[in-house]
Amino acid sequence: MAVIIDGKKIAQDILDEVRAEALRLKERAGIIPGLAVLLVGNDPASRIYIRHKENACKAAAFFSREFKLSQDTSEKEILAIIRELNRDKKIHGILVQLPLPRHINPTTIIEAIDPRKDVDGFHPYNLGRLFTGNSYHMACTPKGILELMDRSSIAIEGKRAVIVGRSNIVGKPVALMLLNRHATVTVCHTKTQKLSLVTRQAEILIAAAGRPEMIRANMVSDGAVIIDVGINRMDDGRLVGDVAFSEVLEKASYITPVPGGVGPMTIAMLLVNTLNAASGQMPKQK
Ligand code: GUN
Repeated sequence: MAVIIDGKKIAQDILDEVRAEALRLKERAGIIPGLAVLLVGNDPASRIYIRHKENACKAAAFFSREFKLSQDTSEKEILAIIRELNRDKKIHGILVQLPLPRHINPTTIIEAIDPRKDVDGFHPYNLGRLFTGNSYHMACTPKGILELMDRSSIAIEGKRAVIVGRSNIVGKPVALMLLNRHATVTVCHTKTQKLSLVTRQAEILIAAAGRPEMIRANMVSDGAVIIDVGINRMDDGRLVGDVAFSEVLEKASYITPVPGGVGPMTIAMLLVNTLNAASGQMPKQK
């Protein structure tokens, strides 16, 4: 029977540490970490996310600015706001909530953000730094996954890690982060053949495919560490992960629940990145 990793508790511990550090930074240097969040349109899930971000900023004694823009806002208008925020000394982090409306090119928008303020870690500069193993801002969800493992004393070096999913936001960056930490990494995706043969090799299995309960007990080896990044809303309103939790629980050594596993870590890492940008001290990589 696996240990259930309490992401909510670990995220709260980190938020407490971030708040203490933010108050010290204010005391020592008069700097209040500032985060700007841009939301374009009315996507209900995005509205919930940014409300959580706003509350976390308040709890951590950060300064925050929120831009709620209408669905028909032009690319030019968004770029003008980003240029202003790039210059704004009170703002250390800029986050543009994705997805954007279809008439806006997300690449154009992300590339306009000053990479030092790109606390989402989506700018090609930050992706390049991750690629070369000399990371600057790292994307929040994958960074949160590594932090969950580190704080649960799960070894990464030398382990066989398998990732199911190759998105730019989770699958690809977490693969690079694990590789940089000396895991042996395999990335699977929708075209992978005999998926279960690959997943059964995993000592660390990261499920980030966005398919409800696709990872079954017969796809998992005894004693594997299971990290579930899926958040799937079922027709009956239930929230389930990409892992069939109750059956995999029996075989794994560690497992993250949904909700309350990886999810809460994303916002915690956003605040960590913003704090690091504000203090001007990017941490050394492990
Ligand atoms: N939409 C879903 N996840 C994310 C995220 O981590 N950052 C941003 N900007 N948008 C998202």
